[in-house]
Order: sequence, then structure tokens, then C-alpha cells
Amino acid sequence: MTGGSFSRVGVVGLGTMGAGIAEVLARGGLAVVGVEIDQGALDRGRGHLERSTGRAVKRGKLTEDAQREILGRVALSTDFADLGDCDLVIEAVPERLDLKRTVFAQLDRVCRDDAVLATNTSSLSVTDIAVTTGRPTKIVGVHFFNPAPVMKLVEIIGTVLTEPGAAARVADLVKGLGKTPVTIGDRAGFVANRLLFGYLNQAAGMLESGHATRDDIDAAMKTGAGLPMGPFTLMDLIGLDTCLEVLDAIYAESRDRRHAASPVLRELVTAGLLGRKTGRGFYAHDNSSGDEEKAAGAAPVVGIVGVGPLADAIAALCDRAGSEVRDSAAGLAGCDLIVEAAEGAEAARALLSAAVQAAKPGTVIAVTSVDGSVIEQAMATGRPSDVVGLHLPDPAAGTLAEIATTVATDPDIADRAVGLVARLGLGVVRCRDRAGFIVDALRFPYLNDAAAMLGAGYADADSIDAAMTLGCGYPTGPIADLDRLGPDRAVTVLRALHAETREPALAPAPLLVEHVTAGKPLR
Ligand code: 3HC
Repeated sequence: MTGGSFSRVGVVGLGTMGAGIAEVLARGGLAVVGVEIDQGALDRGRGHLERSTGRAVKRGKLTEDAQREILGRVALSTDFADLGDCDLVIEAVPERLDLKRTVFAQLDRVCRDDAVLATNTSSLSVTDIAVTTGRPTKIVGVHFFNPAPVMKLVEIIGTVLTEPGAAARVADLVKGLGKTPVTIGDRAGFVANRLLFGYLNQAAGMLESGHATRDDIDAAMKTGAGLPMGPFTLMDLIGLDTCLEVLDAIYAESRDRRHAASPVLRELVTAGLLGRKTGRGFYAHDNSSGDEEKAAGAAPVVGIVGVGPLADAIAALCDRAGSEVRDSAAGLAGCDLIVEAAEGAEAARALLSAAVQAAKPGTVIAVTSVDGSVIEQAMATGRPSDVVGLHLPDPAAGTLAEIATTVATDPDIADRAVGLVARLGLGVVRCRDRAGFIVDALRFPYLNDAAAMLGAGYADADSIDAAMTLGCGYPTGPIADLDRLGPDRAVTVLRALHAETREPALAPAPLLVEHVTAGKPLR
């Protein structure tokens, strides 16, 4: 038995999250009482449990006997009175404060006085729930991540009213279940959702504005930023109704426009297209989608103008793809693609105009500014229709290229640019000429939010990094990312984003600026 001071645990609500939590508890050897509102909901909850454990059996991760034992530990009921002898009850009903308060009033009546009552709320105030019960000292938040059996993080939320022992006992339980607890205070979105949902909503806004397509944004974040899923795939996994509820709750506290839910999200929810659970959201889940096109054709001849780390990285990619690289004025005449990789805007402009003179008409000219100024460089060449922006979010990994087109880019040149860069063995996504293209525009505001959260003292660097790696499967946490990518680069990109949008929350966090000035990493 791994429950520490808890041996019998109730779960109210057996939707995706509640059933996942019940499974985690039962896998940990605890006796679980699962309660639903009626027989239909209970049957659906049983279905979730059977499917999830059945999937583990099919993958050879669980024997049929072990599955039977796990399911045998979960008693299912539609009667709250069956929770009377639980030491801990975890509520996982839909995110409506009125509903949660009703559930807690019932729990207050049927549960023992010493029982701890927990809410798996994603973003509602745990304090708001606690104050309507007769035992506010015994109310905690216990926030699991979807899919609960897989994600290792559990946020434990203590309010100003919670007795310290209650939160500590729940944290011990969570540890015993093989998860990592992060204990924090009661702020909307806690750590992970507060950092995740600004990013998800911004991705929806990018789609809404036509900056890039759903598939390109997903591919950019998966391939270019190394995330386990792109934002639209993830929103469909979470459920778009949940996404909307979380955003509304965070917006109510933050009053940050970036948390004001994107209209496309609201529209999908109103239409009942809630993601995986209803078969359609941003994606139709009966279709396989997002397959990357295979690049066909010979490796292109690439001209590189400029010297420095970016020029070296592009040359290395060409080498890997078997592409001939030219860097002399005479050689540029026969290139399919000319990439400007100079350090500094002035140098880039001078080198580029010389290169454009040498290039034959129809050669794709790629400039590497990523601050929304591709159009300026394009106009300066005198051949703006041949110019695209090219950005490698992670040049060393050499997995993804972003191609930005301006209003002046010839559509055929844009298509040729995508084809040529794909033949260098890179995944290619397209977007418009806006600061940060896709990857940087989405990741730096998120990193800035993490720095602001650290600066505000809500959570320490370890908790923030653990929240994103263990809760959302990010390869590294945001504070580590800031040190890896460089706080100075973060400040440069954020200033460009802020200059373009005048969005107050995109101004670099004071802590970040301070670290740049001090020349000191965040960790
Ligand atoms: N239930 C149980 N197990 C599951 C599962 C599910 N729904 N989905 C996947 N798994 C298991 C698989 O069985 C497999 O286990 P194994 O390695 O022991 O065989 C493992 O997870 C990996 O699964 P797959 O190989 O099928 O798929 P992936 O490698 O693509 O991983 C993923 C799937 C774990 C979901 C991964 O894509 C990921 O980490 N995505 C990010 C998820 C995320 O961000 N979650 C948090 C959302 S925010 C939230 O929940 C908060 C809320 O308040 C909104």
C-alpha cells in the first residue's frame, strides 16, 4: 500500500481526468471509491478505466491478472454516502464553481470530519471552494495532468486556510504513487496552466489571423521546439471546453489580453467540437493528419553570403544533404537558393544587394532576419518578389526551417523556397513576416511568463521547470531553456515582439533584463 496516511480514497466524477486519477490510485494499491451522478455516467467512467488499462495490457505493460486486480480495487457507485469511510476524496467534476461547491457541500455532509477533501480544479480558486465548506482547513487542490496515468506532475495547492499537514499528507500520497508533487499557493492556473495556456491561446490567435496554418504551427512546435505535441493537437487532447474554462478563469485573475480566449476556440466549443472526446476539434480525429510531405528532387545549389555561426550551420546542413555550396560572386549566378547569413543588419543589406546583382532572375533569395523586417530587406534588394525569410529555430538540430513570405513575395518563389529547403532535409513550415515567425513568437512569451513568475516569487526555478517537463512533457523547463537559448537573445526577441504588438506582457520581465545586465544565467 502506497497511500501513506490515506488508505481509502474517493474520486467524484469519472470523466477523462477522474477516471485517470482513479486508475493511478488503484495502480498504487489503494482502495478507491468512484462516484458518478447517474448510471450512464458511471458506465462511461467504467469504460474509461477498462480502455486505459486494456491499452496497457495490449502493449504488454500489464498482465490481465494485474488489470483485474486494479479494476477490482475500484468500487463504483452513484451514492455519495459510499464515500463516508474515505480518508481522502478527490473531486474531478466539470470546471464550474457552482457545481464544485454543490459537490463539496455533499462531501462535507457524508465524509468523516477528519477526511481531507481535494479538488482537481484546473484553474478555479481552491479558496473559493474551501470557504463554502465547514472544513476549510482540510481543503486542498490536487491537480493532475492529462493523461493522468502518464504525466508525472501533480500540483498540490494549499490555500491560506489549509492546515499545512493536509497538503503535506497529500504530497506524500502523490509521491507514493510515483508522481512528483509541486506544492504551491492558490493562483489562477497554478504554475503549469498559467504558463501553458497563454501559449496555446496565442497559437489559436495565430491561426485566427492567418499567420500560419494549423498543421504548420503544430509541426513548428513539435519539430522546431521539440515539444511532444503541437498546440492544436494538445488542445484537442485536453478538450476545447476545458481550454476555454481555463482561459476564462486565468483571464479573470490576470486581466492579460493574451488569456482572452481566441474566438476560434469559443466558436468550436459552441459548435460542440470539443477535441478528441467528441471526435473533432481543431482536427477530425478519424483522419490521420499532419504527415509531413516528402521532399523530392536533387539537392539544390546553395549560395551563402556572410560569415558567422548561422552561415556555418547552413553550410553544415548543405553538406549533410549533399548540396553544393557557393560563396563567390561568380558562383552565385548558378545557385537555386541564395541565403543571406550575415551578422548585423547593415552587413546583411550590403552583401545582399551584391548577391542579388549576381543571381539570375527567379533565384530564391532568403534573408534571415526574424524580427518582422523581411519586407524591408526585400525592398532594399530591388527584387522583393524573389525574397523570403528563412529561420532555423534550432540550427544545431537542423530539423526545421520556417519560411516567411511578405506581401511582395511571388507565390511561385514561395513554393520553390519551401521545396528547395525541404531538399536540404529540413521540415518546412510557412508563415507571414511577423516578429519571431512561429517558434520564437510562441516560445519567448512563454519563457518571459516563466521569468516573470520566478521574479514574482510564486514558484522557484525547480518547481517551474518540473511543472513543464513533468506536467506537459517538455524536454526541458523554461528556466533551463532561457539559460540555454540565452537571456540576451530572449530579451532581443521579446523587444521585437513588443515593438510589433505593443502588448504590455511581451515587454521583457525585469528579472530577465537584470540577468542580461549582470551577465548571469538564471540558474
Ligand atoms: N492513458 C494511458 N496511457 C496513455 C495514454 C492515455 N490516454 N496516452 C498515452 N499513454 C501511454 C502509452 O500507453 C505509452 O505508455 P508506454 O510507454 O508505457 O507504452 C506512453 O503513454 C506513450 O504513449 P504513445 O507512445 O502512444 O504516444 P506518445 O509518445 O505520443 O505520448 C503523450 C503521448 C504522453 C500524451 C505525449 O504526447 C505527451 O506528453 N503530450 C503532452 C501532454 C500534455 O501536455 N499534458 C498536459 C496537458 S495540460 C493538463 O492536463 C492540465 C489540465 O488542467 C488542462
